[in-house]
Amino acid sequence: MTQPLEARCRDLIEALDLGRASDLGEVKPLTGGVASDIAAVRVGGDAYCVKFALPKLKVAADWFAPVHRNAAEYAWLQVAADVVPQGAIRLFGRSEEQHGFAMELIAGDDVYLWKTAMLDGAPLRGEAAAVGEIIGRIHAASAKAGFDTSTFRNRDDFRALRIEPYLTFTAGAHPDVAAELTALADMLYQSDAVLVHGDVSPKNILIRDGAPVILDAECATMGDASFDPAFCLNHLVLKAVHLPPQRAELLDAIGQFWGAYAAHITWEDAAELEARVCRLLPALMLARIDGKSPVEYLVETRREQVRQLALPLIASPVPTLAGFANELKSGLEELET
Ligand SMILES: Nc1ncnc2c1ncn2[C@@H]1O[C@H](COP(=O)(O)OP(=O)(O)OP(=O)(O)O)[C@@H](O)[C@H]1O
Ligand SMILES: [Mg+2]
Repeated sequence: MTQPLEARCRDLIEALDLGRASDLGEVKPLTGGVASDIAAVRVGGDAYCVKFALPKLKVAADWFAPVHRNAAEYAWLQVAADVVPQGAIRLFGRSEEQHGFAMELIAGDDVYLWKTAMLDGAPLRGEAAAVGEIIGRIHAASAKAGFDTSTFRNRDDFRALRIEPYLTFTAGAHPDVAAELTALADMLYQSDAVLVHGDVSPKNILIRDGAPVILDAECATMGDASFDPAFCLNHLVLKAVHLPPQRAELLDAIGQFWGAYAAHITWEDAAELEARVCRLLPALMLARIDGKSPVEYLVETRREQVRQLALPLIASPVPTLAGFANELKSGLEELET
């Protein structure tokens, strides 16, 4: 049986020497997924954010090895702290026994969740380029000889959490592009070139003092470099479909992300990687419509537009993201006339 959250927080702060059990103040749960508990906690005069993997899941889903993923998440956050200290979160230790760790609580008037700002229609403030920069730096650092991959040999978790629900499942719903989607699934499973975060979604990115802090690295694995850029850009694309007034700005942000990311590509040919992102991105667009994890904010007419944009780009990929953004712009204009 899992202990109540407060008791686990008490044990964790003692195990990590952050205070005595009696110092524990308010424990405020934050919105968390099905496989973890996450909370803001007060310890004496200090505030922390703690995250525990749950050995037993909150829902009856075929979730994979949650406890093991807590170690991968902490290890990714450590890499981020080493490689991009200015954008990373401060860490206060992890308990292997409790499958939990403590990190700095990011809060304050100048803090916002990137997803919330975009869905509110707020103008972009350079977030895409800043995220591209962080991911590019981490990919490059992890491709170097001597990078410790021991916590990140998680391709089977990645297949269960990302490849299967997004690509394999969607292939079943779309026989016309099943061969392309299956080829992408194989490509992602085979590679171990760089450290992939696996969930670079605006809902996992807090912006503090104008700088992104990327959280929620439970899917971290050595994998193909195309995944993180395509996954993040997909969120911009889906919001561009959803929000006509912000569309031009959101589609421009694709180039801003890529410009910042591509400056760090050292481990392979940049044009080849860009072409893989251009193949994967429309597949992920379709996956958020007809895969196992459909996007929650698109109405049916918009969902159908995403299908119509994605299918030809899966069947006949374009080689550059500039070309990709142009296809989306003209495609959306046509669909709306
Ligand atoms: N260190 C932190 N400081 C402040 N808020 C945080 C911190 N870490 C996470 N959060 C908030 O809690 C939310 C959930 O965190 P996280 O994504 O790590 O949990 P999760 O259980 O994997 O959730 P989900 O499956 O919903 O993504 C984040 O979207 C963010 O708003
Ligand atoms: Mg999250």
